[in-house]
Amino acid sequence: MENITLQKEILSCLGPVQTVGRSVLCLKEAASTNDILKEAARQGGADGTVVTADIQTAGRGRRGRTFCSPQGGLYLSVLLRPNLPVQALQPVTAMTGVAVCQAVETSCGLRPGLKWPNDLVIAGKKAGGILVELIPLPEGPPALIIGIGINLRRRGEGSLGEAETIAAFLEEEAGRMADRGALAAALIGELDRMYSALKAGDTGPYLARYRRDCVTVGREVLLMDTHGQRRARAIGVGEDFGLMVEFPGGEQETIRTGEVSVRGLFGYGT
Ligand code: BTN
Repeated sequence: MENITLQKEILSCLGPVQTVGRSVLCLKEAASTNDILKEAARQGGADGTVVTADIQTAGRGRRGRTFCSPQGGLYLSVLLRPNLPVQALQPVTAMTGVAVCQAVETSCGLRPGLKWPNDLVIAGKKAGGILVELIPLPEGPPALIIGIGINLRRRGEGSLGEAETIAAFLEEEAGRMADRGALAAALIGELDRMYSALKAGDTGPYLARYRRDCVTVGREVLLMDTHGQRRARAIGVGEDFGLMVEFPGGEQETIRTGEVSVRGLFGYGT
């Protein structure tokens, strides 16, 4: 069932857009907004289509995790058909992180940080996450689905399950009501600008902003990838948005995949 009230709120706050947000569907409940758009991608759904849900019953996170999605959050996905070589899509995850920080700052007055690659961080806790999926299609270039989940307000102790202890909520942190419609509209506007920049190859301003927003840099990290577990210090973000780290012996490496825990964030090492 649709949430027409939210849809009207979003459309009343949304300025002119090129592609993202030309079609906006707001649902009261969905299994996963990414999965809805995955199906839409296969059925010829339009470039820039946005779907939101008030609740997700099977929300998905990165690395096959469940993303707990109770009432009180913003769960939004967008379908993109960029028609670019897969290599050119690599910065999308980080650029989306910057777009989300920008939208939160515009509508809530506080700017979150980004735990590499793209968890939203406020006061050392997780305020949201981003899941980018490349969808191969039988004909033509793959579609891209960007899913964003943001914690707005707490809904009773334990509604996020285990994640509750490491969760930050925008309303508590900003000390004021967060308007879901205004935040969603700001997010759609930012994603629209990000998409235009991506297609134009204009990633430079996003890299500069990402380097400022990334709270992982300068901290001790635990890397978990095909090499097993390794401790290092994050020393920067490379030109391709990879995380540059230095190991205790002085060797350096740029990390592009795998799990990175950051000392002092989300309860790790505190
Ligand atoms: C993460 O933190 O690992 C990423 C979380 C991404 C959650 C969003 S909510 C909207 C969209 N639908 C999903 O099932 N997942 C994404």
